[in-house]
Amino acid sequence: MELTKNGIYIDGEKTLLISGAMHYFRTLPEAWEDRLQKIASAGFNCVETYVPWNLHEKKENEFDYNGICDLEKFLELAEKTGLYVILRPSPYICTEWEFGGLPPWLLKYEGIHLRTMDPIYIEKINRYYDSLIPRVLKFLSTKGGPIIAMQIENEYGSYGNDHKYLEFLEKALISRGVDVPLFTSDGPTDNMLSGGTLKHIWKTINYGSRTEEAFKVLEKYQKDLPKMVMEFWIGWFDHWGYDHITRKPEEMIEEFKKMLDEDISVNFYMFHGGTNFGFMNGANYDGKHRADVTSYDYDALLTEAGDFTEKYYLVKELLKNYESKIKKHKNYKNYEVKESLKKNYGKINFLENSCIFENLENISQTYKSPYIKTMESLNQDYGFILYETEILGNYENKKLTLEEVRDRAMIYLDGKYLGVIDRNEKQEIFISVKEKAKLSILVENLGRINYGPKMKDSKGITDHVRLENQILFNWEIKTIPLEEKDIKKLKFHEIAKENVKNIPKFYRGKFIVDEIGDSFLEFNNWEKGHVYINGFNIGRYWEIGPQKRLYVPKELLKIGENEIIVFELHKFGKEMELKDKPDLG
Ligand code: GLA
Repeated sequence: MELTKNGIYIDGEKTLLISGAMHYFRTLPEAWEDRLQKIASAGFNCVETYVPWNLHEKKENEFDYNGICDLEKFLELAEKTGLYVILRPSPYICTEWEFGGLPPWLLKYEGIHLRTMDPIYIEKINRYYDSLIPRVLKFLSTKGGPIIAMQIENEYGSYGNDHKYLEFLEKALISRGVDVPLFTSDGPTDNMLSGGTLKHIWKTINYGSRTEEAFKVLEKYQKDLPKMVMEFWIGWFDHWGYDHITRKPEEMIEEFKKMLDEDISVNFYMFHGGTNFGFMNGANYDGKHRADVTSYDYDALLTEAGDFTEKYYLVKELLKNYESKIKKHKNYKNYEVKESLKKNYGKINFLENSCIFENLENISQTYKSPYIKTMESLNQDYGFILYETEILGNYENKKLTLEEVRDRAMIYLDGKYLGVIDRNEKQEIFISVKEKAKLSILVENLGRINYGPKMKDSKGITDHVRLENQILFNWEIKTIPLEEKDIKKLKFHEIAKENVKNIPKFYRGKFIVDEIGDSFLEFNNWEKGHVYINGFNIGRYWEIGPQKRLYVPKELLKIGENEIIVFELHKFGKEMELKDKPDLG
């Protein structure tokens, strides 16, 4: 690909890039080809994806490119489908993804400075890029592959101004053999552009509306290179406890038409949003920690389950008028694409359960420490952590303070539930002890912050626990990551009649699948927890909404009996129901 004053050229032919964002790590691999064909079927010539460092290097210096991490397979499929690829291996990716895609083990290095020339941070990027970049080289368009451009950092101007760091990232790619055009992407304001761009690197911008204004600002930084919106925000994401956000199709299409008429290339953010499976949701911070919901539907062109929306049809129709401006990849075809079958598998009755405390031996690691330690310092990334200590003496109605809880703790005294202490609400709990009592604090990580200056979001309890002003010492700490392999080790028994509330429990149930289809799990009547379908963690549910049903992709199901395990923190909702429609609130 060549960038000139007159526009973008591929193989000597002038073209607009009409690209759709889809993140391979938010869609099960079996569905990649379907979604890619749907991008092509709308008349697009390109797909864009980030690369999540936290999945590719889950444990420090152990790299993974299998299953949902099989980037090479995704690139092969994109090429086979006939799409060019824009790759954003930033290594920070924001995207409402846990810690913006950074691996949590970085926080083990106390005092580390993220997204700058801190030698420790840089050393870790170098090692990661030594593993990642050689794998993508053969997919570069200069070697006959589909990747036409790659990004440096991500909206760096919204975070910092270390241009030496941006130059380092540029060299990190070039020195490893990347020879396609590089670019930055930033919000369209002066400070974002001055902080986030490099003079000699192609500058793209991100926004949802006001095309003219945005490019006026960019013009001060770049005149002679093609215009591209790297993220055209055509929808938005949701936080637990807030309203579901959508964006009007008419507004989107009007803005898109302006771009096409002005010869502006566009990447739709998102074409297909997908799902934050497992513990992979990120969070925003604005004085309050706001965790993102499990669905990343994004009100995009395709739904979370890959169905067509009004936006898809509007865009496809409009693009027919601009076909001559959009050069297609040589493998491009007009695909016959269709929606998946949706199934209502009905009600699931839970007959077995077991409480978290009776399983700890199998699913946790125990550490002893005089003082409180964070998850990261105990090599834990996600899930739950239990802090326990014995209080000796007589305490009358003393205030218990967690300094600071990340993000939500359930408090027990001698096994009796006292309530929740939450990072945002700082609810107070008062405790009385006669001679001796065991204090247990079960802390849930709700997702690390993925954007802005508060990203160093260590989890668990960050400093100490105190009663009034007396700090409590000598802890037994149990890390409970609830990985899929741990779920296999749970022991179940028949549900007791006396099913006590607020003791976190695993519930096991079965449902029968007669015909495979996508389904949506309604968690009505349950309060908060995680769901594992045939051993796969499909994500978090929470009665505060807005999301009301979790997406159950058909790829997880098999004909006959299927297993569901629900980890519920507070109550027993008796049954759940698998429905044939989503409900995002
Ligand atoms: C920015 C980031 C994206 C995403 C969007 C909001 O543009 O670059 O990763 O977080 O905001 O969805």
